[in-house]
Amino acid sequence: MMNTWTAGDPQYRIAQLEDRARDQTLAMACSLISLIDLRDRYTGGHSARVANYVRHAAVQLCLSDDETENVVLAASLHDIGKIGVPDQILLEPGKLTEEEFSWIRKHPEWGWMAVRNVDGFHQAALLILHHHERVDGKGYPSRLRGAEIPLGSRLIAVADSFDALTTNRPYRSARTCQEAFSELQRCAGTQFDPYVVEAFWASIEHSLGETLLARTA
Ligand SMILES: [Fe+2]
Repeated sequence: MMNTWTAGDPQYRIAQLEDRARDQTLAMACSLISLIDLRDRYTGGHSARVANYVRHAAVQLCLSDDETENVVLAASLHDIGKIGVPDQILLEPGKLTEEEFSWIRKHPEWGWMAVRNVDGFHQAALLILHHHERVDGKGYPSRLRGAEIPLGSRLIAVADSFDALTTNRPYRSARTCQEAFSELQRCAGTQFDPYVVEAFWASIEHSLGETLLARTA
C-alpha cells in the first residue's frame, strides 16, 4: 500500500516494523504449507505454483495491489487446513468413500480458522474459506453461487485445478497445458467462472507460456 511518510517519521518506522512482522508471519505460514506439501510427494510445490499462477492472473484481471496481495497470500496458504486431514485419507490414491471425503471437505474451514485472526490475513482467510465453492452452487463449505463467491476464491479454484491437471498423480500422468485448459473450459459455467477461466488462460499465454511449455515438453 502506498503512503506519504518520510524515513524520519516515527509512523514510517512503525509501518516498517508492521511490514516486517507481516513478512515474518507469512514466512512462517509458508513454512507450514511446505510441510503440508511434503506429506504428499505428488503435490510438492503445489501451493507455490498456484500462488504464481494467481499473481499473473490477478494482473490480467486488473486487480488492485491490495487485492492482488491478498489473493496471492490466500493462494499460498489455500490448503493449510489439510494439516487436519489424516494421512491415510490425504494420501489415498484411489477413490474416497463419502465419509473419507467429508474429512477433505473440512479443510477450507480449518484453513480459515487457522489464519483469520492473524493481523493482515482477514481477507485472505475469507478467500481460503471459499476456494472450493462452485459457480453452480454445488461446492463447499457454503454452497455459494456465481458472484456470491469472492473473485479471489474463484481465481484460486481455477489455478488450483490447472496445477492439479498439469501435475503427475499416482493414478494418472500430467495433462498438457492445452488439455488442462480444455478441461477448465468444459467446466466453465458449472464449476468455474467463465470470465476467470478466460483471464487465467490469457495470463498463461502472455506471462508464463515459455516456462510452462518447457515444463510439459
Ligand atoms: Fe483445497
